[in-house]
Formats: sequence, structure tokens, C-alpha cells
Amino acid sequence: MKRFSVITLFPEACKPYTDSSIIKRSQEDGHTKIEYYNPRDFTDNKHHRIDQKPYGGGPGMVLEVEPFLRAWQAAVEPDTGIKRLAKLVTGKKRNCKTIFFSPSGKQFDQADAIRMGNDNHDYVFICGRYEGIDQRVVDATNAETYSIGPYVLTGGELPALTMVDAITRQIPGVLGDNESLEENRIASAAVYTRPRSLKWQGKTYDVPEVLFSGNHAEIDKWRMNNF
Ligand code: ADE
Repeated sequence: MKRFSVITLFPEACKPYTDSSIIKRSQEDGHTKIEYYNPRDFTDNKHHRIDQKPYGGGPGMVLEVEPFLRAWQAAVEPDTGIKRLAKLVTGKKRNCKTIFFSPSGKQFDQADAIRMGNDNHDYVFICGRYEGIDQRVVDATNAETYSIGPYVLTGGELPALTMVDAITRQIPGVLGDNESLEENRIASAAVYTRPRSLKWQGKTYDVPEVLFSGNHAEIDKWRMNNF
């Protein structure tokens, strides 16, 4: 079983996705465990405040290091079921890698997804806000930094979900036989089902004739050419 621990200030934005479809099934089948840690639960002030003004001046606020490190500590230790500040620190560490997100990180690609899906590590994802998180979160956790693409997102939540999704698909046994075949097919992204002929707003959209030919060599050729 591969465990994904997501450290985020917005677990409620992430959970509906990981509780759906194939990712949900992967948890039910025991291939993955996905858990969330909110740094706000690891603050020691009564207002659960997690940001402060930057040293050296400048605009905006910076997410503080300690709530993130405490949340990370809770995630990397063997499961005690305690996800708040009161957690006992055991000093033990699970076999896991820590990932941080930034548009300037290494571009995450399918080869990474395959490698991470097949290795025997758990993964801890730290979601910061693009506007700023204390650099020592990255330094003290020895995190590797990944980007999911050349654009700027508001925070690490979508990158974390993207990586959880792409990696989970690669864990042996997660996809059923048919889904695996689909994933590996030498095929175009274009697939069709009923109706054979669609009439929509004055136009007709027909399914390509070759798909009804019964000639599998021809169908494969068509799929290669429409990749
Ligand atoms: N944070 C903000 N934008 C990002 C991106 N494109 N990839 C990863 N992390 C990010």
C-alpha cells in the first residue's frame, strides 16, 4: 500500500477529488491510503494564525514554518492516528519522500508517475501558497520541488492532486485489465460510442467508417494515424 499524505490549508478543496472514481477505489481496495494534515491544526496560538509579515519587508504575508513542520512531522511518523498539535513525537520516520511545489521546480512527467507508482516509498506533499511560504519548510524537510506545468497556480493543491492521480494509476493492480489496456493502447485519444450518426445544431457528425469494418489491422492503423 502506498500512502499519500497531503499537507494543505485547504483539505476540503482536495478531498472530494480523492474520494471519487479510481482514486476512491484505490483506497477501498487497499492500494493507497490518502490522508490530509492541516497546518492550522498545528498552530500554538488560539486564533490558529499561520501567516506573518516577511522579514526584510515586501508585499503580502508569508506562511510560517513551524505549523508546516509539525504537520509534516505528524505525516512522516508511523501512524498514531493523531493529527493535531497534541501528537506524541515518536522520533521514528516512515520510508517516505517529501515533495514541494513551485512553477520553477522539475517538470513532473509520465516517467516520474511510473517510477513513483512502482517504487516502495510513501509520499508527503506540502502545498504552499504561491505568494509565499517560509523557505525553511523546504530546507528542513529535504523536499524535492516539482512543477506541473509552465504557468502559475494559486497554490500546491492542484499540483498535489495531479501527482496523486497520475501516480495512483501506475500502482500495480489499481487499474483493471481493461483500463490498463486503454492506458497502453497504440491509439488515438478519439473514441466513439452510440449514436453512429449524430445530428447536432444543423450538422451531422458521423463515427469514422473504419471502426465498423471489423478489420483490426485497419483500425489499429487508423488509430496510429489519429494519435
Ligand atoms: N505553484 C504555483 N504554480 C505551480 C505550478 N505550475 N506547478 C507547481 N506548483 C505551483
